[in-house]
Amino acid sequence: MGAREVGLPERVPAAGLPPRVEIWEVGPRDGLQNEDSVVPVEVKLEFLDRLAGAGLTTLEATSFVHPKWVPQLADAEQLLAGLDRRDGVRYPVLVPNDRGLNRALDAGVDHIAIFASATDTFAQRNLNSTFEDQFAMFEPVVTRARKEGLEVRGYLSMCFGDPWEGVVPAEQVVRAGKRLLDFGCSQLSLGDTIGVATTNQVTRLIEAFGDKSALAVHFHDTYGQALANTEAALRAGVSTVDSSAGGLGGCPYAESATGNLATEDLVWLLEGLGVEHGVDLGKLVETSVWMAGQLGRPSPSRVVNAIAG
Ligand code: HMG
Ligand code: MG
Repeated sequence: MGAREVGLPERVPAAGLPPRVEIWEVGPRDGLQNEDSVVPVEVKLEFLDRLAGAGLTTLEATSFVHPKWVPQLADAEQLLAGLDRRDGVRYPVLVPNDRGLNRALDAGVDHIAIFASATDTFAQRNLNSTFEDQFAMFEPVVTRARKEGLEVRGYLSMCFGDPWEGVVPAEQVVRAGKRLLDFGCSQLSLGDTIGVATTNQVTRLIEAFGDKSALAVHFHDTYGQALANTEAALRAGVSTVDSSAGGLGGCPYAESATGNLATEDLVWLLEGLGVEHGVDLGKLVETSVWMAGQLGRPSPSRVVNAIAG
């Protein structure tokens, strides 16, 4: 059966779920930053174009981080210069500091994401900073970006468990997350960077925030919990979910992080729950199969394999 002839699950809508979910596609950034090889910029551009063609409307395109830290995304300027922006599609990029913001502004971006850590050890490993100093780095970035008219998302990593510090208390996460929102981030994405969270932990953390309207979730699938955790987040009132086409992904500075929740697996779930998502699953699977060919290894997504295998 070709991917285009794929069936879809029966729609059985349930109460207590958002009518529509915004899928924040991170494959071109979180996925490709973790590849051993550097994917040519032309392939990245085709990937972005195919993802937009499959109906995804938020494509996290790349990062303006130090090229020595993430050589896989060192072509950020070239990528932005070659991007064929589609109407109705947003192309946010990661920015860590002032230098990154200058580069992003020069490249004409209108949406950035900063990325803090809920723990001190990961702030050191990922940002060469401390827990406290990272806020001093990010606050002026958010302020200046907002002045320039940019939209700013905040990521918070290690929201559930940290490979060096163990379980991360919910209160610690809420305090750090609220600081990013107070800086002026319009959205806060809660990252399970190493994929250890389970459903009740997710529900408890989201409830602990009180106001959930600005929250998004970002699950890596290391322990196979990402889809269950996503449903827990939806039931707790979150309606923006990060995922990566084909389940690409990881984090080069957290060895135990594997791929993100696969967008195809997410779409299958949403379809069955009767939640609007706007994605053409057949086209998306074709894109992930094509990308797997470019990378020389199969997609870990169960849905990709069920449909295209
Ligand atoms: P540093 O080495 O401490 O930087 O890196 P520095 O401020 O000391 O500067 C050293 C040199 O780097 C200077 O150049 C700067 O200009 C240059 P020199 O004066 O020596 O010639 N520099 C830069 N050049 C280009 N672009 C820049 C930049 N910044 C400084 N932006 C830094 C500090 C934060 C930059 C570094 O640690 C870094 O780039 N870290 C990023 C790591 C990363 O990208 N990790 C993956 C993304 S996070 C993630 O995946 C988690 C997430 O998915 C959520 C989840 O799963 O939880 C988002
Ligand atoms: Mg991530």
